[in-house]
Amino acid sequence: MKAVVFHGVGDIRLDEVPAPKIQEPTDAIVRITASAICGTDLHMMRGTMAGMEPGTIMGHEGVGIVEEVGANVRNIKPGDRVVIPSTIACGHCVYCRAGYYAQCDNANPNGKRAGTAFFGGPKSSGPFHGLQAEKARIPFANVGPVKLPKSVSDDQAILISDIFPTGYFGADMAEITPGDTVAVFGCGPVGLFAIASAKMFDAGRILAVDQHPTRLDAARELGAETINFNKEDPVEIILQLTGGIGVDRVIDAVGIEAERPRKGPAAKKAEQQAGMYRQEMKEVAPETHAEGDLWKPGDAPTQALAWEIDAVAKAGTLSIIGVYPPTLKHFPIGQAMMKNLTINMGNCNHRKYIPNLIEMVQGGTINPAYFLTQVEPLASVIEAYESFDQREPNWIKVEIVPGL
Ligand SMILES: NC(=O)c1ccc[n+]([C@@H]2O[C@H](COP(=O)([O-])OP(=O)(O)OC[C@H]3O[C@@H](n4cnc5c(N)ncnc54)[C@H](O)[C@@H]3O)[C@@H](O)[C@H]2O)c1
Ligand SMILES: [Zn+2]
Ligand SMILES: [Zn+2]
Repeated sequence: MKAVVFHGVGDIRLDEVPAPKIQEPTDAIVRITASAICGTDLHMMRGTMAGMEPGTIMGHEGVGIVEEVGANVRNIKPGDRVVIPSTIACGHCVYCRAGYYAQCDNANPNGKRAGTAFFGGPKSSGPFHGLQAEKARIPFANVGPVKLPKSVSDDQAILISDIFPTGYFGADMAEITPGDTVAVFGCGPVGLFAIASAKMFDAGRILAVDQHPTRLDAARELGAETINFNKEDPVEIILQLTGGIGVDRVIDAVGIEAERPRKGPAAKKAEQQAGMYRQEMKEVAPETHAEGDLWKPGDAPTQALAWEIDAVAKAGTLSIIGVYPPTLKHFPIGQAMMKNLTINMGNCNHRKYIPNLIEMVQGGTINPAYFLTQVEPLASVIEAYESFDQREPNWIKVEIVPGL
């Protein structure tokens, strides 16, 4: 079968690989009908999420048809159409039972303290072959995959695999109470879903920060008040727009590939921090492989975090869903402490949210396909990665379809 295979930082290929087989009684084999490229895949390609094993199939977003199930998969059967959560969880440990699927004790073969198990990730996350393939082995299929109703299309369901639950998780962790003012940093797909979700939690106002005009337009379309950090100092504007108070809640949907402003009033201050950011990058991504303009990591790992801590009101909440790898050791803890902030963060507990999100889509509360800007065949996946990496205008979320 065809699959997107990691060969090294900056080097993925569409290879012919052996089809997966059932290995455990709780496995299922799913024929993938839709996958997608995520900002997290870019971290691996750019070297900011290190430790990928060559040969690993990429991708952690998937929808498909169950082809085969192991003896202990009793809830789904061949022929069922399912959405696959990005993170893998056993369903019976104390963490899974409390809804912390991303901290499952049993799914990660590296042990209980090894961290979140997910598809298509580095060695420390399993490794498990990913979902940018014609077929995939789904471990703990008795728990993870959720059956889809006919009325929810693949274009909608693929966004329920990872980024809608993640945006929703971000809004949930932000402790939004009705009327709160919320700032979302990063208007990629995850940030846009965080904006849509903050509305579901009855945020009074939402401010959105990014640098790409088409992404800011998408945020404005959702009703957010937009701020381009290459034109304005985001902290100054947020304070100005909130009567000097700052925002009640802030959501980080940026992560380790944060960039610093190149133009505008915030650029000078960021330039003074350039040395510090370079040092952070060296610690985080010892190996990079930028090729021309492609696969260049961000240049200011803690820039968004610094703005967020500055822009949030005293006693406010910071919710971090942007991914920061364990190699990042810098954080403005002092300022956060002095402001009595609450900080919640982590990898999404996808399986906790997915059933409810499917119902929301079915009921017409939200149409996640609205956020999809490209549908590409698996045959063009490498070009699609490049366009997504380059943040070409209007490339916000890319679905990959093996059968197209
Ligand atoms: N916690 C989880 O479980 C989980 C799940 C999925 C994705 N993620 C992470 O969420 C993050 C966003 O994912 P995505 O797919 O939307 O990625 P993306 O790379 O498409 O979007 C990131 C956006 O942040 C913007 N940005 C860069 N520097 C900034 C700054 N200083 N201030 C404000 N915005 C800035 C970029 O311009 C870009 O539009 C990534 O780090 C991804 O790994 C986390
Ligand atoms: Zn993802
Ligand atoms: Zn578990």
